Amino acid sequence: MVSYIDASVAPLKNTGQIKLYSPEDFEGMRKACQLTSSCLDALVPLIKPGITTQEIDDFVYGFGRDHGVVAATLNYRGYTHSSCTSINHVVCHGIPEAKRLREGDIVNVDVTFVVDGWHGDSSRMYPVGTLKRSAERLIEVTYESLKRGIEAAKPGNTTGDIGYAIQSYVEAERCSVVRDFCGHGLGRLFHDMPNILHYGRPGEGIELKPGMIFTIEPMVNLGRPEVKVLKDGWTAVTRDRTLSAQFEHSIGITANGADIFTLSQKGLFNPLHPEDKPN
Ligand code: MF3
Ligand code: CO
Ligand code: CO
Repeated sequence: MVSYIDASVAPLKNTGQIKLYSPEDFEGMRKACQLTSSCLDALVPLIKPGITTQEIDDFVYGFGRDHGVVAATLNYRGYTHSSCTSINHVVCHGIPEAKRLREGDIVNVDVTFVVDGWHGDSSRMYPVGTLKRSAERLIEVTYESLKRGIEAAKPGNTTGDIGYAIQSYVEAERCSVVRDFCGHGLGRLFHDMPNILHYGRPGEGIELKPGMIFTIEPMVNLGRPEVKVLKDGWTAVTRDRTLSAQFEHSIGITANGADIFTLSQKGLFNPLHPEDKPN
């Protein structure tokens, strides 16, 4: 059975209890998340044909250093980079390398800065030059699925309501939801309870309560949902090699909805429709 605990008295480790955070904690998360968002904003003009994913990662490292922080992924379970850079059919956890981005590629950059102990986790899609319509549509569907997931994130609803909102929309658009990775609680820990599945049925899972903090980060494929992890132990790709996209926000549950900590102050979260709100 699920149980809830005041985050201020909870042990730091993941005990399976769902931590409920205070308004001060929410402000700590907002600060970390806003640093992550401003870094993702600063990448927008840099991500063009010819840049390498290692250069993207170097920028993220330097951005953190300039602000006196490091990324949670650096030396996390043997991972040695400040970001994940997932190109085209890479679903997530793409490792930065010397490979140059090419016109028409789509790339997700996922960054988690740790500020005063709080983890700010967010990712976005970046178009490289002009895209094919199919790639553009995948990005639109994935963004919209995150938006619908966030709309379902409110007290009284369950984690299953979030998953259902995402899955029912994505499948109606004839795309598929990746099952092998999920959103997660976070705060002073990078990955904590609860797991936020991006598929499910209404009313399933655990009840959402004010004070909960977690990510929603749907991965959506143009083809089938199955993924495989390459021999490097990290890079997850679609088995059928179709394109995959992902957007991730870190949010906190409030009395009547969700506080989106990783919003872009410049309105750049959705690269294809910068005017879209929330952004
Ligand atoms: N930032 C990813 C997430 O959204 C986790 C990356 S872990 C890494 O949860 F080690 F692959 F970087
Ligand atoms: Co995450
Ligand atoms: Co992330």
